[in-house]
Amino acid sequence: MKIFLDSADIDEIRELNKTNFIDGVTTNPSLIAKSGRNILEVIEEICSIISGPVSAEVTATDHKTMMLEANKFLNLAKNVTIKVPLTSDGLQTCKALSDKGVSVNVTLCFSPSQAILAAKAGASFISPFVGRLDDIGQNGLDLIYDIVEIYNNYNFKTEVLVASVRGVHHIVESAKIGANVVTIPAKTFKEMYNHPLTDNGLKSFLSDWKETGQSIL
Ligand code: E4P
Repeated sequence: MKIFLDSADIDEIRELNKTNFIDGVTTNPSLIAKSGRNILEVIEEICSIISGPVSAEVTATDHKTMMLEANKFLNLAKNVTIKVPLTSDGLQTCKALSDKGVSVNVTLCFSPSQAILAAKAGASFISPFVGRLDDIGQNGLDLIYDIVEIYNNYNFKTEVLVASVRGVHHIVESAKIGANVVTIPAKTFKEMYNHPLTDNGLKSFLSDWKETGQSIL
């Protein structure tokens, strides 16, 4: 399973990239707004840090302007993935770009039927939002089951990129289902390391070790 960082915070991306576990980055207009920086500068900088795909989301709602925005992003770096919303114009843009070999991430997916259309439009990634479905009382992970099953049935090449992740349980369940990618906030990535028994075990090992008076080096 690939792990993408869901962030537009350069310091955080730089720090976590040192772990060598970060396979890509996703951004969205809200994350760019939170960064307080110019979108083109931020995307270019993230692409210089991360070698994997970096999703840059268009903000236009019509196909023609989406294409113009996509071309601006594509001029920034080779590893830009164009992120488009799951609308009719977004899917038209996805098809036009993917036909030219451009990597496209179709975002704001909330149903299996939407995911089918994204795959048929040649998307490299589909981003179903599990957390936002949980927020309205549904089980977001059910959507991941459905999409993975459908994509397997037809051997669709589109990768399932689980988005709107709220905790480690979403990552683990997505991995069990067979999703290709999770995109997660820095806080959730750091939580992946944690277990109280690891902390307690290490504490007692180190205390017993100290008693021996030995040193390995
Ligand atoms: C990533 O591609 C999505 O934009 C992001 O995961 C949305 O997360 P949120 O629902 O926490 O805003």
